[in-house]
Amino acid sequence: MSNDIRLTFLGHSAFTIEYGEWSLLIDPFITGNPSAESASIKSDTLNPTHIILTHGHGDHLGDTMEIARRTGAEVIATFECANYLKANGLESVADLGIGGGRNFSFGRVKFTIAHHSSSAPDGTYMGNPAGALIDIGGKTIYHAGDTALTLDMKLLGEMYDVHVAIFPIGDNYTMDVRDAIKAVEFVDSAVAVPMHYNTFPVIQADPEEFRAGVEGLGKKAETPAPGESFFISAE
Ligand code: NI
Ligand code: MN
Repeated sequence: MSNDIRLTFLGHSAFTIEYGEWSLLIDPFITGNPSAESASIKSDTLNPTHIILTHGHGDHLGDTMEIARRTGAEVIATFECANYLKANGLESVADLGIGGGRNFSFGRVKFTIAHHSSSAPDGTYMGNPAGALIDIGGKTIYHAGDTALTLDMKLLGEMYDVHVAIFPIGDNYTMDVRDAIKAVEFVDSAVAVPMHYNTFPVIQADPEEFRAGVEGLGKKAETPAPGESFFISAE
């Protein structure tokens, strides 16, 4: 297992990606997240080396400030989100534009287009939302953030060898299961994972319906419950 990359679902859109000495935490909405709380996941037990923030909505920004302050984790965020975090006292913040990438100690992050909106819980404008292409351990993992289905995802499939793609399926605020299955087809990842569902009453969705669609494409679905992990091999 030592050469494996571990992905853990923390509920909603929050994941950790652990590899070697690195622990990446994406969209850490833990406190007040019914899915995380049902799995007894606590913000103060998370010790990431890096936090990746796709946009400023409260169900993604979540515990970013508290965790970054406590651990010193570097936060990787879009330009406006990064400025917001710095204005609130964080020092270790990397600001990326959509379509831009940067190399980090663990690998690389490139922000992709997400069709959605972005503002902080206090109403501050947070720029455009993003998805993230994350290179770690020789594998590429795509966290789509909150987004509609977009034909731009087809470009990602053509240009990048995405191994794991994580898509919202909950409808209402983002794409639904049907759209997410089309997104898997576009991105052409080996493995697909659902997120942003069953956290709130308006985003109820069936991960088994997603699984069936993904398997119908000849691909593998991973549908971890909050707190559960799966592994992929590093290269
Ligand atoms: Ni959002
Ligand atoms: Mn959201």
